[in-house]
Amino acid sequence: MTSMISVQGLSVHFGALRAVDNIDLEIPKNQVRGLLGPNGAGKTTLVRVLATLLEPTSGTVTVGGHSVERHPNSVRSMIGLAGQYAAVDDLLTGRENLEIVGRLYQLPKTEARKRADEALERLSLTDAADRLVRTYSGGMRRRLDLGASLVGRPEVLILDEPTTGLDPRTRLELWAFLRDLVTEGATVLLTTQYMDEADELADRITVIDTGHVIADGTADELKARVGGDLVTASPKRRADLARVAELLTDIGSGAVRVDENQLTVSVPVDARVDALVRTAQRLDEAGIELSDLGVQRPSLDDVFLAITGKVGSDTTAPTETKRHRGRR
Ligand SMILES: Nc1ncnc2c1ncn2[C@@H]1O[C@H](COP(=O)(O)OP(=O)(O)O)[C@@H](O)[C@H]1O
Ligand SMILES: [Mg+2]
Repeated sequence: MTSMISVQGLSVHFGALRAVDNIDLEIPKNQVRGLLGPNGAGKTTLVRVLATLLEPTSGTVTVGGHSVERHPNSVRSMIGLAGQYAAVDDLLTGRENLEIVGRLYQLPKTEARKRADEALERLSLTDAADRLVRTYSGGMRRRLDLGASLVGRPEVLILDEPTTGLDPRTRLELWAFLRDLVTEGATVLLTTQYMDEADELADRITVIDTGHVIADGTADELKARVGGDLVTASPKRRADLARVAELLTDIGSGAVRVDENQLTVSVPVDARVDALVRTAQRLDEAGIELSDLGVQRPSLDDVFLAITGKVGSDTTAPTETKRHRGRR
């Protein structure tokens, strides 16, 4: 079958700005595609075109075989959309919000009620169903917004940074919930700034920056472009930096990256433990004291750096903050 989502030569210009510049994207049925990119990359613009909220400047975009320009209603009936900013009404209860969405889908009242209850149950909001949304936490709002995107039982879910700003526990809950939906056959386009999120959820990842696709592949393929895993070492004394760099050059392949007092070198994935042990031994033999030593998978920052030669912005997930900050 043809792609569930097909984007061919899509451009969206805002005056002189090319927010989306000649993007191609093919997403087969039941795939979860991660669309990864820093702030301003063009993710939301692409999402808005897919959701028929914005007309392309040029290009062809279809969802389930329907053209977003010629048959927007057919597209709308197939998709559910949830965004970074929950589009729920504060002055209504959770249940009322979802029932209204059901009525917008022109469901009979009893059916709208049934689906609202179903969505509330799935997102663990049943206990809060009759409270005003005004009293909800940020995570609850986001869950309710996701619930709203499910009322129409869409075949295609478009999620625009669904977990940005959420606490780590709520993120994990949302991830588990999304996995359930995919098991049931949904096709998902998930935009995110977080490599770990794309890694967890996406079958395939498209990386965009300044309106262009700059990489595309599975998480492992993308990380492979960094050239392996990364051994990092931080000497206690700055005076040891040069000697540590020298030792790391022998251990790894390619150049040693220096980031303040942290040194990073890539090592083959299948030799990561061996490389770490050798590093520890040799630094110890050389009498160098370390404040930190480790080996890790590359982050989005590293993938970005490898592909574009520049550091991405805002790419560190809340749960990852500690682990990655040192390598910035
Ligand atoms: N309605 C608009 N008018 C003018 N510029 C816009 C508009 N929407 C987005 N942009 C610009 O387009 C670029 C891409 O934005 P966006 O798609 O929101 O990126 P992302 O969602 O990846 O952060 C940014 O430079 C943004 O400022
Ligand atoms: Mg956005």
